[in-house]
Amino acid sequence: MQIGLLGYGTVGKAFFALCEEQSSLTIKTLLTRRPRNVDCAEASDFADILNDPSIDIVVEAIGGIHPAYEYISSALRAKKHVVTANKAVVCAYYGELVRLAAENGVCLRCTAAAGGGIPWLSSLGRVARMDRITALEGILNGTTNYILSEMTARYAEYNDLLREAQQLGYAEADPTDDVEGYDARRKLVLSVNLAFDGLLNEQDIPCVGISRVTAGDVAWARERGLVWKLIACAERKGDAVGAFVCPTLFPVTTPESQTNGSANLVSLYAERIGKQSFSGAGAGGWPTASNVLTDCLEIAGGAPSFYSDRPAAPLSVDNGEGVKTWLFRSYGRYTVREETAADAFEAYRAVLEVDPRALIAHLPYGML
Ligand code: HSE
Repeated sequence: MQIGLLGYGTVGKAFFALCEEQSSLTIKTLLTRRPRNVDCAEASDFADILNDPSIDIVVEAIGGIHPAYEYISSALRAKKHVVTANKAVVCAYYGELVRLAAENGVCLRCTAAAGGGIPWLSSLGRVARMDRITALEGILNGTTNYILSEMTARYAEYNDLLREAQQLGYAEADPTDDVEGYDARRKLVLSVNLAFDGLLNEQDIPCVGISRVTAGDVAWARERGLVWKLIACAERKGDAVGAFVCPTLFPVTTPESQTNGSANLVSLYAERIGKQSFSGAGAGGWPTASNVLTDCLEIAGGAPSFYSDRPAAPLSVDNGEGVKTWLFRSYGRYTVREETAADAFEAYRAVLEVDPRALIAHLPYGML
C-alpha cells in the first residue's frame, strides 16, 4: 500500500524510518513545509496527496486540530484510509470522523493517540466486542509520569524536569496540555468513547494536573510510603460515566508506583474477563511510530473501519456517587476528606480561590 505522510516531526520521522523496513508499505509522498531530502516525493500542498489516486493511506503526524481535521476529513471523503497519533483532533471530532470512515468504507485508526506504543485502544476495541467494559484507569501521560517519577527519585525541580521531558521528545508542542492533565483527559475520552460506545465531552471531565505538586508534597508522600501519579479514570454508571483526571497517591508496592519514566500503565475492567492491564512506553518517537506502523499493517491486512462499529450515543459525566478519600493541601496544611468526586472537585475550586497553589489528590486506598 502507498502512503501519504503528513509531517516529519518526532513521530513522522520515526515512522518514515520504520516504513523503510516494510515490504508491504511504501511512503510515496511526504507533506512538509521545508525540503527534507528523503527518499520519496515531497509536497508542500496537501492536494498533491489528496488527488493522488495511488495513495491508499494518509498518515497524519502534524498534530493540533487545524489543519489536521481538514486533512483527515477530506482524506476519508476521498476514500483513503487514515492513521493518526493525534488525540486532540480525534477527540474533538470523534463522532464525525468515525462516521465518515464508515460511510466511505475506509479505516480510521489512532492506536498511537492513547498509550504511545501500547496497543491500548486496539485492545479496548477487541474487548468491547466480546464483553462489557465497566471501568478504565491508569497512567496515560508519559511527560507527567517522567516528571513525577524523577521528582520522587532525584528530588529535582519541576521546571528542570519539564525541560528534560521536552528534550526527550515526550511533551506535546504546548506542554500545558501535559502538565495540566488535558492530554491524559483526551486519551481518557477516546478510551471511554470506544469502551462504552459513547461520546463524552472533554470539558465535562474534572481535570487537575501536576503543576502544583511541589518537592514538599513529594517528600510528604515518601515519608508515608506513597508515590504521586497522575491518574485518569472512568467508570460506567448506567447512561452516565464517573470520570476525572487527578494526581493520585499510591503505596510504593503497587504497580502504578513502580511505573517510572515516560511509561504508561492502564487497566480495563470488564464483566466476564475481569481486569486486564497494559504497560509500556507511553511517549516518544519510536514507540508512538510503531503503533502508527501497526495500524497501517492492520489496514493492509483488512481491519474494520474503526475499532468498534457500534453506534455511539452522547454520554454525560456524573461524579455524584460513591464516597472516596481525598487529600487537600492549602497554605502548607494537609487535610483528608471523605466525599464524592463531584463534591471534592467543587470544594477544590473554592479552595483555589483563596490559595491558587492549593492541591487536591485522590487516595485510592482510603488510607491516612
Ligand atoms: N505528550 C504525550 C505524553 C505524548 O507525554 O504522554 C504521547 O501521547
